[in-house]
Amino acid sequence: MSSLQTTVVDHPIVQARLTVMRDETSSNAEFRAALREIASLLVYEATRELERADVPISTPVAPTTGTAIANPPLLVPVLRAGLGMAEAAFNLLPESQMGFVGLARDEETHEPTPYMASLPESLAGRPVLVLDPMLATGGSLLHCLHLLASRGATDLTVICALVAPEGHAALGGSGLPIRLFTASIDERLNENAYIVPGLGDAGDRQFGPR
Ligand code: PRP
Ligand code: URA
Repeated sequence: MSSLQTTVVDHPIVQARLTVMRDETSSNAEFRAALREIASLLVYEATRELERADVPISTPVAPTTGTAIANPPLLVPVLRAGLGMAEAAFNLLPESQMGFVGLARDEETHEPTPYMASLPESLAGRPVLVLDPMLATGGSLLHCLHLLASRGATDLTVICALVAPEGHAALGGSGLPIRLFTASIDERLNENAYIVPGLGDAGDRQFGPR
């Protein structure tokens, strides 16, 4: 049985922002703004079940019991493209910490080349929220998720704007317990392992070509 749980957030605002990201005439600034908004909406959905803690407070009128996030997730944007989701996630979860994983996909082999990992040594007992707009072959996210699991993470949630069926199957076959939140599962990959219809290169569309 697969331990991948997938939620496609088919909300009109999410789909309208995804359309801005897909549109080849959108500017870099419009693309970044749409990705930030999608990231906020997907993170909001993905954090519904976060553990809560009661906190005693007093309003100006009376004592009462409020809510705090008991165990804020570690936020992990996958560089470069995941950087465009980081601020939105941090704004919703200011009590969180952030780690970074840098991966660049080889254009010929489509395999990820790791160039950076800045993460706490132990992730045991810590929920982790991974941010990457694109899941194509799945190579990059699987590398990141295995790295997180090797440090003890067992509570893994992935936020992607777009997913290809091939990458989705790769995550499902990994044996890792993963919750995935996305705006769309697209049709397929093309011969260059780009998502179809997709939105192009999410890093280049935010920051310009490498
Ligand atoms: C993109 C994207 C994912 C990866 C997805 O990053 O942000 O990390 O490709 O492809 P995969 O599922 O086939 O591994 P890229 O390697 O292009 O680097 P960038 O973010 O620096 O542009
Ligand atoms: N990476 C991207 O940025 N876009 C794709 O379609 C596939 C991988």
